Amino acid sequence: MTETKTIQEQQQEQYWDDVAEVIGSVKLDYPGQVEQDAFFSFMALPDRPLRILEIGAGAGRLTMPLLLAGHNVVATELSVRSLEILRQWAEKNGVSDRLTTVHTNFEEPLWTNEFDLVLFVNVIHHIDRNKRLVIMKNVYQALRLGGPLVIIEPNPLNVFYYVLYFARWLKNSQKKNRWATEKGMVRSTRWHIESLLKQAGFTSVQRQPYAWFPSKAGNIYRGFLALNHWFNRLPVVREAAAFIWYRAVK
Ligand SMILES: C[S@@+](CC[C@H](N)C(=O)[O-])C[C@H]1O[C@@H](n2cnc3c(N)ncnc32)[C@H](O)[C@@H]1O
Repeated sequence: MTETKTIQEQQQEQYWDDVAEVIGSVKLDYPGQVEQDAFFSFMALPDRPLRILEIGAGAGRLTMPLLLAGHNVVATELSVRSLEILRQWAEKNGVSDRLTTVHTNFEEPLWTNEFDLVLFVNVIHHIDRNKRLVIMKNVYQALRLGGPLVIIEPNPLNVFYYVLYFARWLKNSQKKNRWATEKGMVRSTRWHIESLLKQAGFTSVQRQPYAWFPSKAGNIYRGFLALNHWFNRLPVVREAAAFIWYRAVK
């Protein structure tokens, strides 16, 4: 990576390198599968192999289903360890020929009009706020005309996060200060994301609040999944969903 790294980026890189192994070993559970299926419907991928750019792919939670579905994916990451785990997983599944990994914060524009789709899942709130617009403009440049950008971001209006991170901090359960890596979410409101998209040049922005309770709650009680489904449709209540999905077009 040749770009200038801020202290926040160095901390992020260190944190995601440290937890990459654990994240890479998490198996997709039933609530996760329900959420993934709903998200893939939202992405509305055409029925042909696409060239996809995934920013902040992590250990490949969403990269792998895309590769297995026959798409070509360029995965970027700050964390080298995450990219190594993703590559090993792709090799194990025989799809590594369709995967390219790039260690970058994407501060420099690396591609022009190259991708049919860009995916940005739970990453924007981790990006240094002074770099968010530059990176979003690079995403715009990388997409071909008419190509969609699909985003998932945690919603700071959901109180659950503050309860969860406070409880984890009290118990010191993750032995790491998770909040230090997550606190950027406080400013990732829908208005901030929509403004970034607009300033970068995107149009036709769609927004879908998703899951008032994190899907994992469905492991404790399946009824939470039904409640989520119901809350997603309720005006006002849905605005405090745990996540917001966005789809915008170049
Ligand atoms: C919450 S994880 C999400 C990983 C993956 N997208 C997923 O949903 O499983 C956030 C990831 O974003 C990466 N990240 C943060 N800033 C980045 C940047 N500017 N460019 C690329 N990756 C970045 C971190 O290294 C981390 O792996």
